[in-house]
Amino acid sequence: MLSQLESQYKEALQALEAITDSEALHDWEVKTLGRKGAITELLRSTGKLPPEERASFGKRANEIKNLLAEAYAQREALVHQQELAYDLEAGQIDISLPGRTLTVGGLHPSTQTLRLYAHVWAEMGFQVYRSRDVETDDYNFQMLNFPPHHPAREMQDTFYTDKPDVILRTQTSPGQIRAMLELGEGGTKPIRVIVPGMCYRHEQITSRSEIQFHQVEGLAIGRNIHMTDLKGTVAEFARRMYGDDAKVRFRASYFPFTEPSMEIDVECFLCGGEGCRVCKYTGWLEISGAGMVHPNVLRNGGYDPSVWSGFAFGMGPERATMLKHGITDIRYFWGNDLRVLEQF
Ligand code: PHE
Repeated sequence: MLSQLESQYKEALQALEAITDSEALHDWEVKTLGRKGAITELLRSTGKLPPEERASFGKRANEIKNLLAEAYAQREALVHQQELAYDLEAGQIDISLPGRTLTVGGLHPSTQTLRLYAHVWAEMGFQVYRSRDVETDDYNFQMLNFPPHHPAREMQDTFYTDKPDVILRTQTSPGQIRAMLELGEGGTKPIRVIVPGMCYRHEQITSRSEIQFHQVEGLAIGRNIHMTDLKGTVAEFARRMYGDDAKVRFRASYFPFTEPSMEIDVECFLCGGEGCRVCKYTGWLEISGAGMVHPNVLRNGGYDPSVWSGFAFGMGPERATMLKHGITDIRYFWGNDLRVLEQF
């Protein structure tokens, strides 16, 4: 049987060397190394040999199997190369054809801005906290100090669902309550988070207002947080976003969940404060609502307002994105028009 093995080996090698096309190569592999191939069969019959011959026969048979597999791989590479050269020569492969372009997607302009905000805020110690898009009236309004028939609710036309009490959030501010309850450990831990996410309002869609838009909420809770911290922090954010000499100003405003409340403007970076169409000749662009967290809101988040305080802000990244890219109509954002999206 050993001599049969050796002659099979020689035969197989000779046959392999004569092969010039991949079809014959495939046949050879099936006939020789395949599951029913000659070498495989021989290997399988090892068991029929007298015990004292088995080991040496098995060893050699395995060796031969490996040698043939190696020779096969070499031959395959050669044949493949020859076939390619032949196809090229015969003009079957046209190397002058332009390649296929890979289509790669880009990030939506809003996503780009959100990531930039998250990056800048992260450098200032604010972690991202994700809150839900679908809210209850409680979190979106009540716990933020909007009583049931409070007129401030009318500032934010709400999408209701057919489940009583379940609504789409009109602002990311309910994330303040959720962050306090989830991260505050019963009002004992400081917090520094931003809450980015989509908000929804039942509004007339125009070039300036959409029924969905992003907000980036910010919340800092601690034992010694004052309005100077809010002002300094937002001013630093503006410098990091718009350059070292970006100026900010604070205007008194009203939100039920902050007291005092303010609106924050940055000096128009298009006209440098001179006044232009974009800033409506005021020299300023609004970047954020903000204020000191109202004692009722602290309480609803589990904190004792005689010990803890905090500030909050809410920014609208779509506005910033429009200014940055000169986008004149907010409807482009969710219109899914490739001609628009491909530009980013
Ligand atoms: N939630 C407010 C809005 O949608 C913005 C805001 C957030 C104001 C946090 C103050 C503090 O207009």
